[in-house]
Amino acid sequence: MSRILTRFPKGFHWGSATSAHQVEGGNRGNDWWRFEQQPGAIRGGARSGDACRHWERFDEDFARARGYGHTMHRLSLEWSRIEPGHGRHDAVAIAHYHEVFASLRRHGLTPLVTLHHFTNPLWIADAGGWETRSTLDRFDEFVRFCAREFGGEVDWWCTVNEPEVGAFRAYSEGVWPPGRRDDGRALGVMANLLEAHGRAYRILHDEDRADADGDGRAAVVGFAKHLPQFVPDRPWFIPDIVRASVEDRVFNTAVLHAAVTGDIALSIPGVTAVNRHVPELERSLDYVGLNYYTRWRVRSFARVPHVARRGAPLNDLGWEVWPTGLGEAARRAAATGAPVLVTEHGLADAADALRPRALTESLLGLGRAIEAGTRVVGYLHWSLMDNFEWSEGYEGRFGLEHVDFADPARPRTPRRSAGILARIARANAIDEDLAREVGADAGF
Ligand code: FCB
Repeated sequence: MSRILTRFPKGFHWGSATSAHQVEGGNRGNDWWRFEQQPGAIRGGARSGDACRHWERFDEDFARARGYGHTMHRLSLEWSRIEPGHGRHDAVAIAHYHEVFASLRRHGLTPLVTLHHFTNPLWIADAGGWETRSTLDRFDEFVRFCAREFGGEVDWWCTVNEPEVGAFRAYSEGVWPPGRRDDGRALGVMANLLEAHGRAYRILHDEDRADADGDGRAAVVGFAKHLPQFVPDRPWFIPDIVRASVEDRVFNTAVLHAAVTGDIALSIPGVTAVNRHVPELERSLDYVGLNYYTRWRVRSFARVPHVARRGAPLNDLGWEVWPTGLGEAARRAAATGAPVLVTEHGLADAADALRPRALTESLLGLGRAIEAGTRVVGYLHWSLMDNFEWSEGYEGRFGLEHVDFADPARPRTPRRSAGILARIARANAIDEDLAREVGADAGF
């Protein structure tokens, strides 16, 4: 018998995560689809197009996920499909998602459902998107509708995916729709997305009274927080230190703090700060969703402010692969007082050259954090299969499975990592043999 290096808690959830626009295909009614049509908007001129054709192939996709020992699956409901116009609900889309939930159930996968994963219906975008307060009311209505319609099939809800990433990419860097470059607007949008989370938290608890899995809890609600570490690139250079700390404060600390205290306090030097108290946000996490990928070295006065450590192993998108970071981020997320659910973690690695080892080391680090007292209830890998990686198009291949985008109707091909994660999930533990096989440093 090989020695167990780390064992995960009983009932730990294992699985993978996707989002509607990235996998379904044919999502023509949202702001991303429109954005993709602009020349130069997406790397390589890619468009989401048919994506993975998951809209048609969800059942076989879930069957394979089950085959990998998964017990939970994170997916998102596409608002623009369910409500293509204000107050107008599409019966076909609604029936589709009921089939999706029935399929998940058949395959023994607990759904974790994201209500906002970056995309907005065109009618929302055209009315001002998240810069406009009325969008909060429209989102409340959508959340209420979903809670009533799907509450009998869903207990685990993720209100908003990465409010900080959505706001900064779309309104500060301007690389996501609507393509603005205005830090003041970015802060305003981020505040609205945080408020939307708080309001959705209350609505879901009020409206979803049906306990789908019979564990005594009808609604378990959180959001997904992208939690990179920001470190000064030149630790002796004061401007780098200041910039790293400013970024960490607005991007990480302020977001977690808001969901605990209800106080939104967002500031960046040179921009009007946003300060407001939102009662619904107070203690609005039944779990904290952790999305973890990398740490950034921060450089001031530089054209590219975020760089990877020189000499570090990099994923296909140039992000540092730093397995110690997952456990570290989990400890930080747990400081909110809420149990942590890893809602995303992975790396773009088409050749699957780094993933088996990085995955195993990251999970060893997570295991150590758990042994040291951090409450973690599950791990969902990003992603089940390669998919449409936003501005990176089809270049960032994060899948446990390879997808042939020239013909997404062809079978997906499991990468070695799918089998590695399956072994860990089935054993609910990592043993020495597996660590040795992938060349993992067990000293984590
Ligand atoms: C996260 C997003 C997810 C995916 C991964 C790689 O920020 O939530 O949709 O693109 O990054």
